[in-house]
Amino acid sequence: MPEPVSSAYRLTEHARLDARNTFGVPARAPMLVEVTDTAALPELFGYAMLRAADLLLLGGGSNLLFAGDAPGAVLALQTRRITLLDETDHTAIVRADAGVVWHEFVLWTLGHGLTGLENLALIPGTVGAAPIQNIGAYGVEVREHVRQVQAFDRHAGNFVTLDAAACAFGYRDSLFKHDGDRYVVTEVEFALPRRFQPRLDYAGIGEELHAMGVTAAPRASQVAEAVMRIRRRKLPDPTLVGNAGSFFKNPIVPAAQAETLLAAHPALPVFRGADAGSRKLSAAWLIDQCGFKGHRDGDAGVSASHALVLVNHGAATGLQLLGLAHRIADAVQARFGVAIEPEPRIVGATW
Ligand code: EPU
Repeated sequence: MPEPVSSAYRLTEHARLDARNTFGVPARAPMLVEVTDTAALPELFGYAMLRAADLLLLGGGSNLLFAGDAPGAVLALQTRRITLLDETDHTAIVRADAGVVWHEFVLWTLGHGLTGLENLALIPGTVGAAPIQNIGAYGVEVREHVRQVQAFDRHAGNFVTLDAAACAFGYRDSLFKHDGDRYVVTEVEFALPRRFQPRLDYAGIGEELHAMGVTAAPRASQVAEAVMRIRRRKLPDPTLVGNAGSFFKNPIVPAAQAETLLAAHPALPVFRGADAGSRKLSAAWLIDQCGFKGHRDGDAGVSASHALVLVNHGAATGLQLLGLAHRIADAVQARFGVAIEPEPRIVGATW
């Protein structure tokens, strides 16, 4: 490996990752590579340790569970630029570095009179991680505003630009989740409308705006404020209690199965799926019905405010949290015949 200090990157051997995962579970990596200038990536990927299949790309650590130590090197981009590239009356093109904190980016866009990302306020993580799982909340997914993604292609050894179609976005899904860390996302370009078109399809937002006293056409910053208020109320703050947001994805099932379940459980929340033949079920509701909301196995638990969120009450290990997740999934399978799958990436174990 190269000299441990360069102006473009920093290397730490036997690095602790406890503070780099929002579950706050103990984990280590044999080597942590923190990159402040992505121009160094071609050089860095010349070294076997970074080319190895077990390299882990780490963003804000808000969508992963360390069930064990990272087996190989961990790469974290710490790049921070945001650039307004182009602007018309209708749209602005903004490029942000992968290392920018997502919520800070949302606030930057709002501060510059740009709209479109307000429903995605307060989602933990980084800009670079946003396209990987196609972050979404309150009726909006980031794919609606991603113009293109710049990435370092570890197979080809060069930088590539992928347009939105090439990213193959789906519900909490994209190309980047499937290609075994082939791509290191370095920058994301967004197309953001100048004229605000509020997206209030998620019922709770309208109610929250009302509670805030906003009765006429809301401004984007007010929608963002409403989203932040809902999130702060419903989702535990990872700086106070370790968690990774929704631990399970909402399961997609055939429409006929959803009908059968609905006949037996009329209160089950059912949403449209990606096509006419599929439906999305509320994993939170299924887990809640199995009695897990607020449940604790020692320090591994389920949030008392949202059944979809696993929490670390202090000293839980990743393996304990994973064990609890399996017990929850088994209970949902036994009671409803529905398989639920984790949303975060699990490191050091397979689901
Ligand atoms: N519900 C329960 N018990 C609970 C919580 C919710 O029964 O403890 C039921 C309620 O009936 C509620 C329904 O579940 O109406 C849906 O709950 P919510 O609106 O909170 O949405 P969700 O489907 O649980 C998804 C995303 C969240 C996102 C919200 C809002 C996934 C896996 N999760 O949660 O994203 O913030 O919608 O759009 O798609 C995340 O991905 O980390 C995340 C927090």
